[in-house]
Amino acid sequence: MESEPSTEQKRRLGPYAHAPRLPEGDEVDLRHLGAGEWIELEIGPGPKAGFLLERAAAAPEALLVGLEIRRKWATVGDERLAKHGFGKHARVFCEDARIALPRLRPDGGVRRVFLHFPDPWWKKRHQKRLVMGDVFLTEVARLLQPGGELYIQTDVEERAELYAKVVGECDAFVPAGDVEGSPVVVANPYGARSPREHRAIADGLPVHRMTWRRR
Ligand SMILES: C[S@@+](CC[C@H](N)C(=O)[O-])C[C@H]1O[C@@H](n2cnc3c(N)ncnc32)[C@H](O)[C@@H]1O
Repeated sequence: MESEPSTEQKRRLGPYAHAPRLPEGDEVDLRHLGAGEWIELEIGPGPKAGFLLERAAAAPEALLVGLEIRRKWATVGDERLAKHGFGKHARVFCEDARIALPRLRPDGGVRRVFLHFPDPWWKKRHQKRLVMGDVFLTEVARLLQPGGELYIQTDVEERAELYAKVVGECDAFVPAGDVEGSPVVVANPYGARSPREHRAIADGLPVHRMTWRRR
């Protein structure tokens, strides 16, 4: 079970000390986090969980789980989903995905993983913050069901090239874009957009979208 923060922890953590956390333990069963016929994961939903809110309306049968490292954003996002009546099947937990993903179960239990506009860090000394790395890919490969989708989008061309290369080198994933052999998709097929995606479209910036399937 999730444990209550102590008074000292509350003082140190500030107004979002009560941020929703995953249950404690080495293994967290995603199926116990809410209701749904299948499971979708978003890494880094951002300040208001905008994608999850739209996705919850577009796919009411799914259980949606967001992992957001920022305490305030996880809290506000989770409360917003609940306020709109989606609390039973869409949640955001305050977690560092690199630490939380290895705890998630069951293997092969996730239908889709979304990574929208990740890693806005460019300096070499910030490389250690990158979500998209070996841990991420190994754990996503473990969690996705056969045929399950990994969807990544960004407005930064060099990052899109890097993601295409890194995922492309991973045997667990097969490109599932519009053209055979390529991960590139022109349209977002999920009936839901992330806040950064909405902004990129409004600003006329190109969005690089890619999909792979679990082998
Ligand atoms: C550039 S923002 C994009 C927000 C949102 N996905 C969108 O497209 O509008 C990147 C998000 O990833 C979150 N993030 C960064 N590292 C993370 C980690 N290790 N685990 C979970 N979330 C992380 C950030 O706090 C932020 O919300």
